[in-house]
Amino acid sequence: MTSIPKIAFSKTSLPDSGTVVVLTDSRLGFSGNAKKLIGKIKNFERITKAAKFTGKAGSALSIPAPHGTDIDRLIVFGLGRGEGDPATEWVKTGGQVLGKIGAAEKAAILVDVPPGLDDDPVKAAVDMALGARLRAYTFDRYKTKKKSEDDNGDCAGALSYLLDKDSDAKKAWKAHEALAEGVDIARDLVNEPSNVLYPEEFAKRAARLVDNDVEVEILDEKALRKIGMGALLGVGQGSEKESRVVVMRWNGGKKNDKPVAFIGKGVTFDTGGISIKPAGSMEDMKGDMAGAACVVGLMHTLAVRKAKVNAIGVIGLAENMPDGKAQRPGDIVTSLSGQTIEIINTDAEGRLVLGDVLWYTQDKYKPQFMVNLATLTGAVLVALGQEYAGLFSNNNELSDRLTAAGVATGERVWRLPLDPAYDKMIDSKFADMKNTGGRHGGSITAAQFLQRHVNGTPWAHLDIAGTGMGSLQNDINKSWGSGWGVRLLDRLVADHYEG
Ligand code: BES
Ligand code: MN
Ligand code: ZN
Repeated sequence: MTSIPKIAFSKTSLPDSGTVVVLTDSRLGFSGNAKKLIGKIKNFERITKAAKFTGKAGSALSIPAPHGTDIDRLIVFGLGRGEGDPATEWVKTGGQVLGKIGAAEKAAILVDVPPGLDDDPVKAAVDMALGARLRAYTFDRYKTKKKSEDDNGDCAGALSYLLDKDSDAKKAWKAHEALAEGVDIARDLVNEPSNVLYPEEFAKRAARLVDNDVEVEILDEKALRKIGMGALLGVGQGSEKESRVVVMRWNGGKKNDKPVAFIGKGVTFDTGGISIKPAGSMEDMKGDMAGAACVVGLMHTLAVRKAKVNAIGVIGLAENMPDGKAQRPGDIVTSLSGQTIEIINTDAEGRLVLGDVLWYTQDKYKPQFMVNLATLTGAVLVALGQEYAGLFSNNNELSDRLTAAGVATGERVWRLPLDPAYDKMIDSKFADMKNTGGRHGGSITAAQFLQRHVNGTPWAHLDIAGTGMGSLQNDINKSWGSGWGVRLLDRLVADHYEG
């Protein structure tokens, strides 16, 4: 993590120096200290008119050395009328405000919510701070040249949010900060190149990155062979690098509460194997572990904010390479479930990894539900683009809860069908199933494959091939690896599975 702005919450006061941000709406209304400060600026109305500033959502007016005050710069930030879900909007606003403040700047943000919007200032302050932290993330550890001062990518400033209930905000920030750390952990892992981050190294980092209170167990190839994870091991067998499975446990709930379980695909590089991928954009396949990265970040967040839940994170780590030892199309492997799988295409490797890990998780930990995340299919990009992740589930309640958490956090999911008619498409001539189902409905047949490994446990699969990497840039994400899913699943847990 390279550039984290210092975040502070302080008692409201009228700043008399530096950069100051005030919030307004589309009626140019102000309240509290913002109103007082604006009142001091003699020609404020003339300035807003001349600048044609209307307080439109996301717009800002920057006034250097405003006449009548001693401050260096006033940024008047427009919230519009505050339409949409305020929860998501404040996080977004926080990112937008940081964008207006600029690189390596210090600023005081007056959290005086304009009159028309009756939002809670504590929520506004901590959500804005979260948005600023998320936006400020940059991955520059491999840039050896010094950054220029005005490089906008580097927003390591100091931000103080001024509000009356500053001690409430400080308390609320703890959980938000844990969330920001979790997202940063996931982003770092996704952005890291595969020569550095291979399964063994990923496992080590997972153990190091998660909070100390998370129990971590690393299973090496010898252990996996003994357990019988034939499908996962087949994926890694063409690689010089050994495969791993990592189990992370956070026990924040009652002793006998069944755990919730999160499972991640961690293919640290996906060449396609013998069914090799074309060269174009193959470098993106360093991000084929975004699901596993999210699970690591999430486990960190849950532990740091001491979530009242028992949670298990399990990640399957392998590198998919072509080699003399690599598995071939036509090979038949036996998965941990005892079912046999005919390999049709070695590039459909994620489901092989996950099938074993899902079976292992339900068998060993008897969780109340399993949610897995995986950059599983290119087809989900065709179906949904990069705005929504694909959601598949055998459980309507879990599915509805995930959908609601998606709306609340802005990490949105869209449910796609599972159906016995699709399931038939992966029946094999020679084995119990095959690992691809033909050209049609590629994301669905992949999900059907996973469903054959959940043994009836309530389960949801999130196909994040479009959202987890090569991510869309927005107000709170400037990173290639977005850390997608950490906020979504933290919200799922917070809203339904604590206490
Ligand atoms: N990791 C890929 C899916 C992927 C594609 C992720 C693009 C992110 C961006 C996965 O392992 C894969 O190769 N899937 C194949 C499945 C096919 C062989 C049935 C695909 O989507 O083409
Ligand atoms: Mn693949
Ligand atoms: Zn893959």
